Amino acid sequence: MKLSSRVRELNESVTLKLNAKATTLAEEGREIYNLTAGQLPFRPMPEFTNLLRSELDFLKSYQYAPVPGFADLRKKIISYLEQTRDIKIPADFDCVIGNGAKHAIANVLGCLLELGDEVVLLAPYWVSYPEMVKFCRGKPVIVNSSSFDQFEPSIEDIEAAINKNTKVIIINSPNNPAGIHYSEKWMREFAAMIKKYPDVAIISDEIYYELSYFDPKPTFFYQYEPELLARTVIVDGISKTLASTGLRIGWCVCPKDLAAAVSKLQGQTTSGANSLVQRALAGFDLSLVETFLDPIKRHLRDNSETLREALRTQKLSHSWYQSTSAFYFLVDFSQCPEIKTFKKSESDTNDYSFELCEKLLEKHGVAMVPGQAFGMPNTARLSLVMEKEPFKIACEKITNFMNGD
Ligand SMILES: Cc1ncc(COP(=O)(O)O)c(C=O)c1O
Repeated sequence: MKLSSRVRELNESVTLKLNAKATTLAEEGREIYNLTAGQLPFRPMPEFTNLLRSELDFLKSYQYAPVPGFADLRKKIISYLEQTRDIKIPADFDCVIGNGAKHAIANVLGCLLELGDEVVLLAPYWVSYPEMVKFCRGKPVIVNSSSFDQFEPSIEDIEAAINKNTKVIIINSPNNPAGIHYSEKWMREFAAMIKKYPDVAIISDEIYYELSYFDPKPTFFYQYEPELLARTVIVDGISKTLASTGLRIGWCVCPKDLAAAVSKLQGQTTSGANSLVQRALAGFDLSLVETFLDPIKRHLRDNSETLREALRTQKLSHSWYQSTSAFYFLVDFSQCPEIKTFKKSESDTNDYSFELCEKLLEKHGVAMVPGQAFGMPNTARLSLVMEKEPFKIACEKITNFMNGD
């Protein structure tokens, strides 16, 4: 069968190949430290799973949900947003519940992009953004950052990337893969800058909002310039907050005209999201999330300190930064001794992130996600969720490897 060019041009996940290798090595009896996880390895809180159980008894849980989601849950999500972000969601806004935040973003891009429209993405970016943009016939425009500036791209660089073809900019704070959230100063400056470009829509992917373990907490541009809400789409979901990646519920909150378009698209493609989970969520007290995440956040903070300590004692100061949120850390290999074994010359700036990760896995049994997936050459993402003792061992292995061991 002849596949469409749109699908042929999609990149496949780089983690797949390394994960397959990690599995083969584990089957051969090697001890493997798999740090590629994009989810919390914990069961959701009982208050939520009990609701899922009790909703099993109702007919409604098995029937089609309304396309944009159950009205009571959509209302609840809007109030939750107002409370947690301390904003007033305008009356002409609506919420559309879909099969995860990923689905919500894909729907929104599908409703906004025309052939050739540009979408500004801030590197490091979440792996799926450029592929979704390309699938919608848009053009990703990348703005870079580095560990030196805590992975915050400069506002001037972002402004320079905006032109008359720019349709959307995607902000992901807290950020996957950097494990940081943009500072209040950055958000204020971003708000002031983007105000000058009234035709640019802003997608704020806030899927890791609840997972910040280092003060100050994440803030958002629309808190400083509320009129920007009129062209903002806030995306969130339960995958990370409720440790429920497999239940596939996420949403977008945006102006009603866009919400109606998202609902129209969803109605002709996937229909409403899972009824059972929506019914359970409608009865769930979202303020309990904080108690659930408290010990998890302490664990992430402890592991991030273990890693930073390992980088510090091994004198890998170039890779040292304070992660603050989500559950990742982006290790920069670009200045470490090990990279010299790959570089063809001093001035070689090619990306060896895949080769570095492959060698790290083969030699030391540690699996990480190559930075090429996130638009960050010669870096790799690790997940901070592993238990403390094996995580400490994995950190030692990584830093030894970086120093050419
Ligand atoms: C930044 C970011 N946005 C969106 C998603 C998708 O979340 P969901 O499971 O709700 O589709 C992820 C999942 O890893 C993510 O890291």
